[in-house]
Amino acid sequence: MVTLTIDGRTVQAEEGAMALDVAQEKGIYIPTLCAHESVTPYGACRLCLVEVKTAAGRERLVTSCLYPVEEGLEVITNSERILRNRQTIIDLLLARCPESTVIQDMARELGVEKSSYHPEDHGNCILCALCVRACQEVVGVSAISLVNRGVEREMAIPFFDDSTACIACGSCSYICPTSAITMEDSGGVRTIRMPNNETEFEMVPCKVCGNYWMPRKQVDYISRTKGIEPEFFDLCTTCRD
Ligand code: SF4
Ligand code: FES
Repeated sequence: MVTLTIDGRTVQAEEGAMALDVAQEKGIYIPTLCAHESVTPYGACRLCLVEVKTAAGRERLVTSCLYPVEEGLEVITNSERILRNRQTIIDLLLARCPESTVIQDMARELGVEKSSYHPEDHGNCILCALCVRACQEVVGVSAISLVNRGVEREMAIPFFDDSTACIACGSCSYICPTSAITMEDSGGVRTIRMPNNETEFEMVPCKVCGNYWMPRKQVDYISRTKGIEPEFFDLCTTCRD
């Protein structure tokens, strides 16, 4: 364990734990958009900026989701300097995603009512890579990735139309902080809509109640990787109990 201070409060934490996690554990709020407990931190949104001062006296502005705590560290989460930086970041995100209510709310919370940049519509995608990390680390499929560089950067499935790897589980949609990816089940078909792609997937019906409850590709994937007979998925979770 190490002892550090956050906003002047002395706390103890596991050495190497990320400053964001330690602060959140202690009930100290830091705004975030790209952090999620289920996936590794990535440092994309930069909203979680904090000021740190090491025991050796080194002072820096860092992304708290990627900054490991150490003995004697001083962390400040809410100075004027931090607020100014967060305002610049959310100003840019608001220009990128003017229709996103999540971004609008976060901007308001940080005192930014209107973006000072020219708005561009990127389908609400903030390039946080949560969908990519969930698909890779939680599902183990890697059906999506961030492609291109600079202003051309975007989230995409391979070659923008090859959804072969996708099993339609919808994890990307659940984890997306701005609802840039949506999922709809209707008439035995699951439709996953991304900013640059829309794909339909067949669902399997429950043999008892008839409800379509799981994508065929997800059934195939689980059967193949976990060695479970496909017949196991003949009944939905409700009818199985
Ligand atoms: S689609 Fe959503 S989760 Fe994926 S990078 Fe864009 S904002 Fe993040
Ligand atoms: S939460 Fe740390 S950079 Fe997004």
